[in-house]
Amino acid sequence: DWTSEQFIDSTVAELKAQLGNDKVVLGLSGGVDSSVAAMLIHQAIGKNLYCIFVDNGLLRKDEFETVLDSYKHMGLNVKGVDAKDKFYSALAGLTDPEQKRKAIGRVFIEVFDEEAHQIEDVKWLAQGTIYPDVIESVSVKGPSATIKSHHNVGGLPDFMKLKVVEPLKTLFKDEVRLVGKALHIDDIIIGRHPFPGPGLAIRILGDITPEKVHVLQQVDHIFISNLKKSGLYDEVWQAGAILTPVQSVGVMGDERTYENVVALRAVTSVDGMTADWSRLPYEFLADVSNEIINKVKGVNRVVYDISSKPPATIEWE
Ligand code: XMP
Repeated sequence: DWTSEQFIDSTVAELKAQLGNDKVVLGLSGGVDSSVAAMLIHQAIGKNLYCIFVDNGLLRKDEFETVLDSYKHMGLNVKGVDAKDKFYSALAGLTDPEQKRKAIGRVFIEVFDEEAHQIEDVKWLAQGTIYPDVIESVSVKGPSATIKSHHNVGGLPDFMKLKVVEPLKTLFKDEVRLVGKALHIDDIIIGRHPFPGPGLAIRILGDITPEKVHVLQQVDHIFISNLKKSGLYDEVWQAGAILTPVQSVGVMGDERTYENVVALRAVTSVDGMTADWSRLPYEFLADVSNEIINKVKGVNRVVYDISSKPPATIEWE
């Protein structure tokens, strides 16, 4: 029988043997997989694991600071890199979802490569790849695809010439969570909904500007914190908000408004391959909608997405 304790013991022993005194670099995303991979390797080689956490300017409200803090509390040797402006300039004017993904993937690689370069004599690249990532024919939207499709742009980035270590390669998501719990990783990280690598960029339809990101971060924050407050967060597999480019007429006092429509999306799912929209209580939706419209400047209408996957997808882009 598989137990997380056994897995941790044997994996840490193998990592020690495999890595010895070598230095390892790993990109943290704030998600479960990269965090658990980091903690396992940290147990094996401590400070020789160099973690890099990039702020791409497309994360949730306050997420970069909060997550960086909890990584530091976990004892990880982590460097936070503010690369917001690089991502925003690369995204400027792009509206096509795949082009946005490519731009984000390209800048991520540039930033990561530059950081990895500063670690003298690094030998390994660690990744939080899990079993489904290995067996799934690489989806066009997948994060690894984003990286792979850039292999040949101007030659391989230096960090990609490193040897690869992937300690979670045999695990399913629920096993990764169990391992994470056994490693005492913060619940904020373990219980977190999946969040796409390109972040809010694929939840802002049309071109990305820092102002739009700011609007969507506020909307998303109201939605997610209300889910948590109402005890609904764990009932839902993934949730978020979408900023549409549609403007509609509204009324505020005796003023006519003409502002953006946001959509709320919450789904139940097992693996993200199929999904159903969450039957969130009407009262909950009413409260969230009121709070969003009252508090977020630039939004005067909220709709709830009632499409299942297939034929819709979870994300709108
Ligand atoms: P869809 O929209 O295809 O999403 O139903 C399924 C799951 O994949 C996530 N997703 C992504 N994750 N890079 C990622 O790392 C991406 O480009 C990407 N696109 C979608 C989505 O959030 C959902 O969990």
